[in-house]
Amino acid sequence: MRKGILGFAAVSVAAALSLTACGGDDDGGSGGDKQGKIGVILPDTASSDRYESFDRPYLEQAFKAAGVQYDIQNAEGSTQRFQTIADQMITNGATVLVLDGIDSNSAAAVQRKAQAGGVKTIDYDRLALGGVSDYYVSFDNAKVGEELGKGLQKCLGDKNANIAYLNGAPTDNNATLFAQGAHSVLDKVTTYKKVAEQAVPEWDNQRAATIFEQMWTQQGGKIDGVLAANDGVGNSAISILKKNGAAGKVPVTGQDATLQGLQNILDGNQCMTVYKPIKQEADAAAKLAIAVLKGEKPETTGTVNDPEGKRDVPSVLLAPIGVFKENVKQVVDDGFVKKDDLCKGDYAAKCKAAGIE
Ligand code: BGC
Repeated sequence: MRKGILGFAAVSVAAALSLTACGGDDDGGSGGDKQGKIGVILPDTASSDRYESFDRPYLEQAFKAAGVQYDIQNAEGSTQRFQTIADQMITNGATVLVLDGIDSNSAAAVQRKAQAGGVKTIDYDRLALGGVSDYYVSFDNAKVGEELGKGLQKCLGDKNANIAYLNGAPTDNNATLFAQGAHSVLDKVTTYKKVAEQAVPEWDNQRAATIFEQMWTQQGGKIDGVLAANDGVGNSAISILKKNGAAGKVPVTGQDATLQGLQNILDGNQCMTVYKPIKQEADAAAKLAIAVLKGEKPETTGTVNDPEGKRDVPSVLLAPIGVFKENVKQVVDDGFVKKDDLCKGDYAAKCKAAGIE
């Protein structure tokens, strides 16, 4: 089942890549090479559905509407590939790079190289610590963490509860902020006790399942709530809870409002997800990139501090939304997921019960 889904993803990624290559080159004839080109590099396809299902199509839409030349590629989790793609994009005339780095170090290296060649860079979603990007576009990631914490608290109530934390990749600055935000809420609840906490390398879902299974065994099943940093990691925890007959009894959080996450919520196996309207993020990044491409000064809404580089990066930060069973409808109404996809088969009745008609 899992294999099938991954297989399909790989095919659609390949198709999307080749489509973009043509689309990007044929498009935006206005100005030709002098105008330059925007290159976007997404990190992977395995840690979240968001990159190929949402980020890519929304960015594509925005660039097409503006009639600029662009090229969007996915590094498939390889930092080496990330570097190679960046080099190729610069060789092929990119003057602005929008980067969603796999980890801070490799993304910062790409930024330094780009800067040396006069190419501007924008951090997209993840801030490359110690980097030299010109701008940063993301959601307020500490706030995302707070939504996760508040969400778990809402699902648990104030009873005594043992909490296990499954954080994101230790090399992803967002994951650090998600954990900090969650702790800022949950550590204040005196009836809660942290019994386990671990980062999931590369946000790898398989490893998340192994890590959670170990936690479960070590605690003798005495885990009452799981702070999982995204829907994929949350689903891994749910798979172990299912094995132990505890799914639906132990609230699990998530992030990205993926189809799987939303269906887990409708099933009652996941307590909430954090919905980040990625269209807003893609539109903001595209707007910024286009302004930079045209040599204009883009609008930002604030700054984000890079503690490693000791600098403030001009930024646009957007607001995340906590989604529970009672407002899954909002994600559908927003056009983020299609009702037909979410409410297939067994989910038709569950959608109806959640007010999605
Ligand atoms: C993103 C999340 C995503 C995770 C794994 C984070 O940096 O903000 O939306 O789920 O990476 O890809």
